[in-house]
Amino acid sequence: MRILGIETSCDDTGVAVYDSQLGLLGHRLFSQTALHAAYGGVVPELASRDHIRKVLPLMREVLAASSVQPHSLHGIAYTAGPGLAGALLVGAAIGRTLAWAWQIPAIGVHHMEGHLLAPMLEPDPPSFPFLALLVSGGHTLIADIRALGDYRVLGESVDDAVGEAFDKTAKLLGLGYPGGPAVARAATQGTPGRFQFPRPMTDRPGLDFSFSGLKTAALLAARETTLDAQAIADIACAFQEAAVDTLVMKCARALSMTSHSRLVVAGGVGANRLLRERLAGLAGPMNVQVYFPRPEFCTDNGAMIALAGAMRLEAGLQEGPGFTVHPRWPMGDLPSIA
Ligand code: KG4
Ligand code: ZN
Repeated sequence: MRILGIETSCDDTGVAVYDSQLGLLGHRLFSQTALHAAYGGVVPELASRDHIRKVLPLMREVLAASSVQPHSLHGIAYTAGPGLAGALLVGAAIGRTLAWAWQIPAIGVHHMEGHLLAPMLEPDPPSFPFLALLVSGGHTLIADIRALGDYRVLGESVDDAVGEAFDKTAKLLGLGYPGGPAVARAATQGTPGRFQFPRPMTDRPGLDFSFSGLKTAALLAARETTLDAQAIADIACAFQEAAVDTLVMKCARALSMTSHSRLVVAGGVGANRLLRERLAGLAGPMNVQVYFPRPEFCTDNGAMIALAGAMRLEAGLQEGPGFTVHPRWPMGDLPSIA
């Protein structure tokens, strides 16, 4: 099955063609980072307008570069949520309209399911069941993934998502947007140990997270110090250490509590080098295999949406010609496969 995927949930326009026999045939991404940088965060109306400008040109590029004709496509997958309503509507409207014109099925994909399945785009893909750590700008959760569509959330953030905490910390340190990569970059110049931040909620049982206190710890440290380049790097370093340490501790705990032998890491923060190193370090001691998407497929992309759509359409899922988007969409509400 050959599927065109469209991602427009936030500030990246992603388009890809995935073939369930041949793998990923092509993909393109246009990042709106420069458009939003001046505002220190994503401006929803600007995001929607830019998706409108970019989806079709990107689609033409992907189809031409992968030598795929529309008549050889078997379906279209678009991100139906969660995300910004206007931005989601652009991908949904274009996906549905082309599917109607080309007389092929279309399917709305859950953005987080896309992230979750992204490691399956890699050469040595994980098979079900597995434990997943999903870390993005809007979500931080550990889930028991039993089969396609059978997901149980074991723990999640009670306040800020870890990506959000990276972004807010970057902002208060004057490191700009997007914050995650900026904090990681600054941290490489930091002196480990100059600041010590808490590892929130690791001293109580359970798998929930809390990251807003960590961001506040960074804010207090910034206020109490002369904020020169070295202090900024040192705070970034302490923040990253504490955030990564917390995620790794909870993953180790979740692996001991379950019988999983595979750990899948996905979402934008999964691109963080320190997190990748530390989680890979769990493989030996915990006797598990750890899977990551390549860094460019940790952050938003069309390939993961095409893949998730292909898996759902192959499993026989169908949708009518109308469409709706879900700016908020708990993973537990996903249409089940069975
Ligand atoms: O998955 P994603 O691209 O979009 C959402 O679905 O939210 O995740 C974006 C988040 C942002 O908060 C960004 O700062 C963070 O992922 N991020 C990183 C890194 N690259 C992206 N955080 C830490 N280190 C990175 N290298
Ligand atoms: Zn995402």
